[in-house]
Amino acid sequence: MINIAIDGPAGAGKSTAARMAASRLGFIYVDTGALYRTVGVAALRRGIPTDDREKVAAMLPEITAELKFEDGVQHVILNGEDVSDAIRRPEASMAASNVSAIPAVRAFLFGLQKDMAKNNNVIMDGRDIGTVILPDAQLKIFLTASAEVRAKRRFDELTAKGTPVEYNTLLDEIKQRDYNDSHRAAAPLKAAPDAVLLDTSDMTLEKVVDRITELARGICADKKDGE
Ligand code: DC
Repeated sequence: MINIAIDGPAGAGKSTAARMAASRLGFIYVDTGALYRTVGVAALRRGIPTDDREKVAAMLPEITAELKFEDGVQHVILNGEDVSDAIRRPEASMAASNVSAIPAVRAFLFGLQKDMAKNNNVIMDGRDIGTVILPDAQLKIFLTASAEVRAKRRFDELTAKGTPVEYNTLLDEIKQRDYNDSHRAAAPLKAAPDAVLLDTSDMTLEKVVDRITELARGICADKKDGE
């Protein structure tokens, strides 16, 4: 199986680019952030403070998280219920960031991610895919962009949807999440030593997808040569 790991901070454009590249390559796109969001939503629904490590850990045996793919589109299933929309609500972002710092939560989601990659050609995106989940991935990409560019992209996205937001609030949130994600003790956000760094600040989405696809085709060709 071919495994491609894409890591990077919130809003770098990982998910859109990874989804499009996966569709061009005929790979499954796995969005692992959705899994942390699912655990975050499970805690919110139970009224558990998402930064309460003991309570969140104690909740885990009561929940099941699964991934389903319909026409190549990923759905996350929490205790049998499709929560793919609920995990996109704004409050789910900080909840996900909080629960993702809890080692028990990372351990809970580890096997699910490993299994997906073992059985499928995948492009998997997240924060620790190249470093922890798929250290043997044939291709690792670390996608980044300045906080300002990421906040602007998010602002444009939400404005287009008719959601009123303040640019400065988004920028503060992005900076806060970057800090949380890269300073936590458990699997902090960092590039794997063998990752290809891609700064997308001045790149169009099309260019990013082209570059990822080109890199992926390179490793697919290498793999064929080696057979
Ligand atoms: O990519 P996202 O915004 O949907 O991710 C939500 C949160 O989950 C983010 O704050 C970091 C965390 N996360 C993680 O710790 N490890 C991953 N592999 C993916 C996401």
